[in-house]
Amino acid sequence: MSLSLRALTNSGFAGEASGIDLTRPLAREDVRAIDDAMDQYGVLVFHDQRFTDETQMAFSRNFGELEFSNGAELYKERRLPQMEMADISNLDTSGKLRPADDHMRLTALGNRLWHSDASFRAIPAKYSLLSARIVPGVGGNTEFADMRAAYDALDDDLKAEIAELITEHSNAHSREQIGIPKASYGEENQIKLRPVRQRLVRHDARTGRKSLYLSAHIGAIVGWPAPEARMFIRDLIEHATQRKFVYAHAWKPWDLVMWDNRTTMHRARRYNDLGEVRDMRRTTIRGEGVTVEQVQAAA
Ligand code: OGA
Ligand code: MN
Repeated sequence: MSLSLRALTNSGFAGEASGIDLTRPLAREDVRAIDDAMDQYGVLVFHDQRFTDETQMAFSRNFGELEFSNGAELYKERRLPQMEMADISNLDTSGKLRPADDHMRLTALGNRLWHSDASFRAIPAKYSLLSARIVPGVGGNTEFADMRAAYDALDDDLKAEIAELITEHSNAHSREQIGIPKASYGEENQIKLRPVRQRLVRHDARTGRKSLYLSAHIGAIVGWPAPEARMFIRDLIEHATQRKFVYAHAWKPWDLVMWDNRTTMHRARRYNDLGEVRDMRRTTIRGEGVTVEQVQAAA
């Protein structure tokens, strides 16, 4: 069978895809159809895809090279053996719920801020693919915001003002916002927290569209005083995450949601993570290049 698509919002942001089993090797035309659908919708939802970690990685590799998970790079302790699998769960290495004061739990709460995955890497992520294995009974949605529509809705003066702006992204900035100090990552990880530079407005050659490249990881705008930069980014995020730009996904087990980090932001929503299991696994496709020449950003 071939890919069928239907829009999930009135604006045409986010699509539901069906008619294809992603756990088996795909034909080249199917991969191309999914890439085209990603360009159109920014977010694609597939139901009933019974992935193992191996088949999820194999499917993901159709779209490019896999990144190592940031968590796997920062922490020695890992539940999932493969470096390419990001563990988006509330479980520890023995499969038990993480307690309230667990450091990994607290860091993972940063996913509840609007962000774009791995925007703190010099070459930031292209697609993310999140597979739901176990979902809680209540809560734990993931919300997605359309950064192309958010850009289009800006007035022309603002578009002109931001056209050439360069921002600095670090995983430490997002965690700092929820009270996790940079020092708590340990001396050995400080180099990975160094800010990288990204364009605030991205242009996509495939579609000819522009998008706002926003993320909770942004801590500075090059050449701007810090408080003014942070306030401006806050205002832009508030604009870009109005409900009219958002699709909220309520998970069922074995859903696979794919999103384009270059044209969308997302955030996790609250659930009872001390009492219910949520086991999600993410693979992430490395982007195709820098958005701006990298220089050593000021720490
Ligand atoms: C992610 C992420 C949100 C969620 O996997 O990158 O931000 O709802 N997840 O778990
Ligand atoms: Mn994320």
